[in-house]
Amino acid sequence: MSHDLAPLYAQHVATLRQRADQALALGGFDHLLIAASTPLRIFLDDQDYPFVANPHFRHWLPLTDAPGSWVVYTPGDKPKLIFVQPRDYWHVVPAAPSGYWVGQFDITIVRTYAEAVALLPKGRRAVIAPECPSIEGVEANNPEVVVNYLHWHRSYKTPYELVLMREASRIGTRAHHAAEKAFRAGESEFGIQLAYLAAARQTEKELPYSNIVCLNEHAAVLHYTHFDRIPPKQRRTFLIDAGANASGYASDITRTYAADGHQEFQALIDSMERAQQGFGAKVKAGQSYPELHIHAHHVLAEVLREHGLIRLSAESAVQSGVTSAFFPHGLGHPIGLQVHDVAGFQANESGGFIARPEGHPYLRMTRALEPGMVVTIEPGLYFIDMLLEELRAKPVANDIDWNKVDAFRPYGGIRIEDDVVCTDGEPENLTRDAFAAHA
Ligand code: GLY
Ligand code: MN
Ligand code: MN
Repeated sequence: MSHDLAPLYAQHVATLRQRADQALALGGFDHLLIAASTPLRIFLDDQDYPFVANPHFRHWLPLTDAPGSWVVYTPGDKPKLIFVQPRDYWHVVPAAPSGYWVGQFDITIVRTYAEAVALLPKGRRAVIAPECPSIEGVEANNPEVVVNYLHWHRSYKTPYELVLMREASRIGTRAHHAAEKAFRAGESEFGIQLAYLAAARQTEKELPYSNIVCLNEHAAVLHYTHFDRIPPKQRRTFLIDAGANASGYASDITRTYAADGHQEFQALIDSMERAQQGFGAKVKAGQSYPELHIHAHHVLAEVLREHGLIRLSAESAVQSGVTSAFFPHGLGHPIGLQVHDVAGFQANESGGFIARPEGHPYLRMTRALEPGMVVTIEPGLYFIDMLLEELRAKPVANDIDWNKVDAFRPYGGIRIEDDVVCTDGEPENLTRDAFAAHA
């Protein structure tokens, strides 16, 4: 990252302080205590599950590996970091804090989780931490009023956060390039995954989610996270849904490629690409996200018609659920500190819930877009045996060209996914900008 992050980070912390002031006042609390949280032990083992720090903690600082540490904020005071650096010769201990961010905190280094807890201020405390397992000596309470307020405002990314999200996109697209090369060179899913990790220079545990690397029919499994070690005899499709992590911020990127010589499938990808870019262009202030999702169903119905898969009007294809059989997930979701970020359904800063449109159970974002929000735009079109069987049993089955469907089944499906920032004007497409920068 070429940026001087210090001034942007100072501004970010100032914003978080204002939000915390407001959240604490609403709940009648004196202190905000945010646990990084502690690792979960595997049953009957002496190892832990991979540690993922509390996203509230990561909102305040770019520390992804600080188990047992706490951020303490008391309105009017400089934020404090109680940082646990154990005496331990078995593991690498977290490095002492350094970098552009440390000036914003009063930092105390302690050796144990218990010492950290002992330093937490007393009084009326909002303790943001996992409730299970509880951390000895302090009870998480996660007051709804505080959490709702903070979640709502987390939707609006600060300029500092956008710098990190651009970086997460750059790392991800760099690795996507390497993965495509590996596919073209005839690698297995496993081989492609290794090429991806090498180019990202991130371990699987550092990535924001498990990579989805699909060849051929596997592209029909939405969350395919198995890695075949042997390449298929014939290569037709390569679908990769893989992101990267920058100081705790995620990118979430999907691309689909046809192997050379598969023109019909390539033409379907080209249509999906045009459709996807059209949806991305609509990431503008005031746009209702669920309406964009429904609009996507209509556009995808046209794609299905153009390619001879269905003979219905777009309207009846959407109404009868035909498009849902080919596009059975949501158009996208908020993204940030978590790949599926918080507050996608929240009605206002106090909470509430905006329901999904009927018949669209997997949509993860029902709000209207506003400047500062970042969402994914990830339409898909799949040939999923289970859903196609259900479709075949419906009266509309007569309006579907099953020979065409069968011809596409060996390709699995298509998904194209970008991360897009809503601004005051034109959208900023983090993914396309990052791909263009490597071109
Ligand atoms: N990679 C998970 C998703 O696209 O939502
Ligand atoms: Mn996604
Ligand atoms: Mn994805």
